Amino acid sequence: MKKLNFITHNKNKYLEAKILAQEYNIDINWINVEYDEIQHYNLDVIAKKSCEIIQEKKIVEGEYFVEDAGLFIESLNSFPGPFSAYCYSTIGNQGILNLMTNENNRKAYFKSVIAYTFEEGITLFTGITNGEITNEMRGEKGFGFDPIFLHLDSDRTFAEMSLKEKNLYSHRQKSLRKMFALFSLRL
Ligand code: IMP
Repeated sequence: MKKLNFITHNKNKYLEAKILAQEYNIDINWINVEYDEIQHYNLDVIAKKSCEIIQEKKIVEGEYFVEDAGLFIESLNSFPGPFSAYCYSTIGNQGILNLMTNENNRKAYFKSVIAYTFEEGITLFTGITNGEITNEMRGEKGFGFDPIFLHLDSDRTFAEMSLKEKNLYSHRQKSLRKMFALFSLRL
């Protein structure tokens, strides 16, 4: 079975990847190590730079991938976007809901960018899922902005879904599937 190294602090991200990878007969090896993440307005640049920083500091041997994600809210001019982690740790879900009080346009999307280090260089895989921001937090599962992100086809927030269900719809499963499909061809 092919093993892929996933460098992340986020156990939820690792579990989402691990469950999905089974469909492709791939195993995910979780590497929970510190690395510096730059601030930038573009997720692609952040993900690529994270890989390069890990490479330069020789934190991990061999091939690996990192993933960076953000929540983009239309009526807030795409805020918090690449600043989602800072936004979540400061104003959090309730802060976002407060910013959107009386706002009728609740459209938002999540974007996930994976950066994978092949010997030949870094390759990016992207996934986007559209939805809406709820009026109140709903659900206990998942992490981050899951309780306020409504998936329209299912009429449930990501926090109301099991890991397997979130893996049917999420931005991350889309970027992961692109990467896993490539590896299935290389096996
Ligand atoms: P990062 O990709 O870990 O930098 O995530 C940026 C911010 O977005 C963090 O606050 C995460 O909690 C949040 N976030 C990233 N992915 C998801 C997701 O799948 N669901 C909910 N929140 C997420």
